[in-house]
Amino acid sequence: MQIITTKSELCKSLTNSTGIRIGFVPTMGALHQGHLSLVMRSKRENEVTVVSIFVNPTQFNDSRDLEKYPRTLDADINLLSQVGCDIVFAPTVDEMYPEKDTRIFNFGTLETVMEGRHRPGHFNGVAQIVSKLFDAVQPHIAYFGEKDFQQLAIIREMVKQLNYTITIAGCPIVRESSGLALSSRNMLLSAEEHKKAPIIYQILSESCIFVAQKQPHEVRNWVLNKFQNTGLDVEYFEIVDGYSLQPVSSWNESDYIVGCIAVFCGKIRLIDNIPFKR
Ligand code: PAJ
Repeated sequence: MQIITTKSELCKSLTNSTGIRIGFVPTMGALHQGHLSLVMRSKRENEVTVVSIFVNPTQFNDSRDLEKYPRTLDADINLLSQVGCDIVFAPTVDEMYPEKDTRIFNFGTLETVMEGRHRPGHFNGVAQIVSKLFDAVQPHIAYFGEKDFQQLAIIREMVKQLNYTITIAGCPIVRESSGLALSSRNMLLSAEEHKKAPIIYQILSESCIFVAQKQPHEVRNWVLNKFQNTGLDVEYFEIVDGYSLQPVSSWNESDYIVGCIAVFCGKIRLIDNIPFKR
């Protein structure tokens, strides 16, 4: 496995890849089985798999969050070599942003809801770094988790807007046996918080049984109520069209409907989602 830190080295390493399928998995490190599931899928579908590890400052709207984001590069490299990753690209901030990136993307109503609404500038930063990484790696296919449901929709839109010919593959959420969605942020939870966090998925799964009897707004209220007295603070829970990400008022509105949630467990913000209709 090659470990590369500059764009020029990466370019050199990939020059002889004409005709070879390159799969790409962008990450911010602190890797877990969720990330590795993407890497393993890329391994199955491509001749070369590149994984980037870069904690991207421009997507953090809160500098404290950026500071405390877990960084475990040695352990990450170890895990990636175990699953047969070919190239790890772990650049510095100066390498990716030799100059301030002044680009402003416009993702319309895809970014005015949920994460976009609560984390201003977040998706602009995601689009800045992912487009730079796409330019550096030039993959055939890039893998993203459905855990970051809105991010996946934004990336698909970005690919359209920028005319990339890269295929975007959405991959299912990997969970702990408790149901808690794996996340790099889980390692910031205290033992007590970690015990509470699986309630998020328990409530979401339970809410699915009401689809036949209740309207979306009733299910939404049921979920919000269920979180009362759990010690978890819901920032938002929205039942949305899986393509447009706009809230639905009836189950007939779309053939793809997803419940998306952001919850504070102590100071740690966790997101998750569940399909109501697919
Ligand atoms: P990061 O949070 O490290 O996630 C990297 C990729 O792993 C994302 O596509 C994310 O959706 C996926 N992932 C995370 N947890 C997962 C889980 N439990 N199951 C399946 N997939 C999971 O998302 C980012 O980094 C950044 O925003 C990035 C795209 C790298 C841009 O900086």
